[in-house]
Amino acid sequence: MSDKKILLAFYSGAGSTRTVAEVLQIRLQDCGYKIDLLDIDVETDTGNIEQYDFLIIGTPTHHCYPPKTISEFVDKIAYQPEPKNIFLFATYGLYVGNNLRMIAKSLLGKNIRTVGFAGFRSPAADASLMFPTFIKMMYKYESNIKDKIINTVAEIDRLIQTGNPKVKIPFYKWYAPLDWFPNKFYTARKFDRDFIPNIRLVSDRWNGEEIDCPRNCWEMVDNKPKYRKDNCEFCLRCVHRTPNKAVIYSADMQDRQRLGIEFFNQLKKELL
Ligand SMILES: Cc1cc2nc3c(=O)[nH]c(=O)nc-3n(C[C@H](O)[C@H](O)[C@H](O)COP(=O)(O)O)c2cc1C
Ligand code: SF4
Repeated sequence: MSDKKILLAFYSGAGSTRTVAEVLQIRLQDCGYKIDLLDIDVETDTGNIEQYDFLIIGTPTHHCYPPKTISEFVDKIAYQPEPKNIFLFATYGLYVGNNLRMIAKSLLGKNIRTVGFAGFRSPAADASLMFPTFIKMMYKYESNIKDKIINTVAEIDRLIQTGNPKVKIPFYKWYAPLDWFPNKFYTARKFDRDFIPNIRLVSDRWNGEEIDCPRNCWEMVDNKPKYRKDNCEFCLRCVHRTPNKAVIYSADMQDRQRLGIEFFNQLKKELL
């Protein structure tokens, strides 16, 4: 067993990033590492990062950018007195844009050096509720993901063992701004204007449990979950993971398949 302390922190809405993080944790443990897993939410404390020898952060891609929860998490990290190495990974439904590059650059300002990165095409939390269901890729990881995870683990192992690996920031993808316009002026605007304000509970589907939200948008009021939209970033955790499809944001999607806990448990088995 290695005596290095390794933190694998991830943020995940529906569960794509969580599933990859959990599989990476198991595979790295098989290599002899002890991995602390940290499920990032709006309240996550970054104070103990200094004690780790190596960091890994996993994130979804939101409109080709890092999700707000990840940007806020990175902002909260203090400047590290000693340089620290990190491996970044992103999940995405179609393409990752400059998501990881932006995170890597912010971390460099905290004396945290990105020394490797990976992207995994994953079930599409947003598209699976919007696009025609015959697009099967919306419900799957990329076909070579098992090999990609094995290669990623080998690379992380090599990077941990190498004394001082080079900084490796993802190249700027010049074509990403082409996506900025439709994303900013159509998709993001649609989510902000039409979807986020209309997230709601369908009372007769609700099983009485509290609703899980990484940004504390749901609270129990008079024994019933009440939604406040102010802090919502449309991560879709409440929509996908609440049992019985009890959280919806439109009549069109209310009966669509959810990428819920069972869905990802099954995929996790396939990835191991
Ligand atoms: C608000 C939102 C915006 C998204 N924007 C993008 C995007 O710009 N590009 C992309 O490839 N996937 C995008 N996706 C899909 C997610 O990145 C993808 O499904 C990811 O694996 C979700 O991870 P999670 O289930 O861990 O949250 C978006 C999803 C959401 C909910
Ligand atoms: S309310 Fe739902 S979609 Fe919004 S941040 Fe919370 S879990 Fe995510």
